[in-house]
Amino acid sequence: MNAPLLLQGKTIVVVGAAGRIGRVIVGAVLSAGGRVVALDTDAASLKALTDIHGTASLECVSVDMADRASLDRTLVDAHNRFGAVEGAVNTAYPRNARYGRHFFDVKYTDFCENTSLHMGGYFLFMQACARYALELEQPFSLVNLSSIYGSMAPRFDVYAGTAMTMPVEYAAIKAGIEHMTRYLNAYMKGRSCGFRANCVSPGGILAGQDEQFLGRYGEHCLSKGMLDASDVSGTIVFLLSEAARHVVGQNIIVDDGFSV
Ligand SMILES: NC(=O)c1ccc[n+]([C@@H]2O[C@H](COP(=O)([O-])OP(=O)(O)OC[C@H]3O[C@@H](n4cnc5c(N)ncnc54)[C@H](O)[C@@H]3O)[C@@H](O)[C@H]2O)c1
Repeated sequence: MNAPLLLQGKTIVVVGAAGRIGRVIVGAVLSAGGRVVALDTDAASLKALTDIHGTASLECVSVDMADRASLDRTLVDAHNRFGAVEGAVNTAYPRNARYGRHFFDVKYTDFCENTSLHMGGYFLFMQACARYALELEQPFSLVNLSSIYGSMAPRFDVYAGTAMTMPVEYAAIKAGIEHMTRYLNAYMKGRSCGFRANCVSPGGILAGQDEQFLGRYGEHCLSKGMLDASDVSGTIVFLLSEAARHVVGQNIIVDDGFSV
């Protein structure tokens, strides 16, 4: 007899679904027996998702997570199409055109805009999910994507000689998302719906980075170094599933040991 699929019959909303990690999460949830409502601002890349997976268990909606009314409407529409929404993953990565600069080159206005787009957007989606779960008295598992840099100081030496750095906004945003996740669990505890939220913090994801950088990064790791998105998606599927029903307010780091 086959083992039951971890997300059989569950409807999961994925924000940032068209991105490097998001599209792999969509595939992983579908493979685990779930249905996916995929949200992103990038309509063309969403279309590519339906080309791959079809539309029987996948609905793609072009939505900006900064738009509160659209988020609420999308959750209701998802409910009407597939039945109760039992979980969500936020893997969006909004940033402005000047994001990614060195510490002394970051302007105050850019710091504020990037934290507002990213941390503010995650806040709005957390509100929408908690409101939905409360109104429907619906058990709900939310997974927020953080990063190793939400809880560890950057290893700036790995970026030496490359155009890359670890932006200060990112440290503030991801630490903020991790702590907001703890806050939300405390706030929702004791209410009738059984809402829980956790973070997953990936290490760096492979995307054609410079060989010297990959080598230096890998020296801090156990075996692989930088990871593929598929190395992270299993942890996300687990947190969405009943197997993790008592995992509440945690941050699971998946980084091949980089942060250890
Ligand atoms: N790539 C990495 O190395 C890495 C490592 C650790 C953590 N993370 C985190 O994982 C998450 C996903 O990263 P990624 O590499 O897949 O990023 P990505 O840029 O490839 O994808 C992000 C997706 O979010 C969408 N998006 C941006 N703003 C949005 C908004 N306002 N509303 C809805 N969708 C929006 C984009 O269109 C894009 O499809 C991010 O939170 C990132 O911080 C990434």
